[in-house]
Amino acid sequence: MTSRWLDTPGRYGLVTRLLHWGMAALFAWQFAGMAIKILVGRHPLTAFMVGTHKPVGTVLMLLILLRGAWGLSQWRRRPAHPGTLLGRAAAAGHALLYALMLYVPSVALLREYGSGEGFAPFGIPLLPATGQEVAWMLAPADASHGLLAWTLLALVVGHVLMVLMHHWWWRDDTLARMTGRL
Ligand code: HEM
Ligand code: HEM
Repeated sequence: MTSRWLDTPGRYGLVTRLLHWGMAALFAWQFAGMAIKILVGRHPLTAFMVGTHKPVGTVLMLLILLRGAWGLSQWRRRPAHPGTLLGRAAAAGHALLYALMLYVPSVALLREYGSGEGFAPFGIPLLPATGQEVAWMLAPADASHGLLAWTLLALVVGHVLMVLMHHWWWRDDTLARMTGRL
């Protein structure tokens, strides 16, 4: 008997699915907020969505750490990528998704710390106000937070297109592993 919480070689379990879909929803919020800021400009909706960008991004930072640790704990149990060229490409694609999911909020939080102004997402004091701006802590996010976030979005679009290829073209159970019966 296997628990529905854990992964098996045939499908992802409940914990992996909650992390995958919950984080997908939060990422959608982050990208939609920034897209609306660029497309619509000043507006109450923009203000609300952009106002939640840092705290929601901080939650994502926490979740990606949990997801990575959980993924390692399920490494031998979860569906394996086949050793074919396409299977290796999928594994590399997933690894790149993880790398960007980790990098994008990490540099943003480093910038918050380096700003010296302190940071309290949801009112929880996370980073102290040092009163000192540290240039090297600001630089990585200034140069690449937005750029690599949009790169992550492009990769997610490719990820979803591949899932749709599996579902409609090859008609295999790739999508069902993340959505089907437990
Ligand atoms: C992991 C989730 C995150 C995603 C997907 C994300 C995505 C983005 C995107 C797409 C932009 C717009 C860039 C542009 O204007 O073209 C942006 C900007 C920004 N984000 Fe994030 N972000 C995340 C986490 C965070 C966190 C944790 C913080 C701070 C605590 C943060 C702070 C900012 C700031 C200050 C900007 C405006 C300056 C800039 O573009 O670097 N973000 N983010
Ligand atoms: C509508 C949106 C999405 C759909 C339909 C979707 C679908 C799927 C499916 C079917 C799998 C299983 C693939 C396999 O077994 O090889 C999967 C895995 C994965 N997806 Fe997505 N996904 C979506 C959004 C996202 C987003 C937004 C991210 C990250 C920003 C993401 C990151 C991953 C990763 C890293 C995996 C590998 C398993 C894991 O470690 O969680 N997905 N996705």
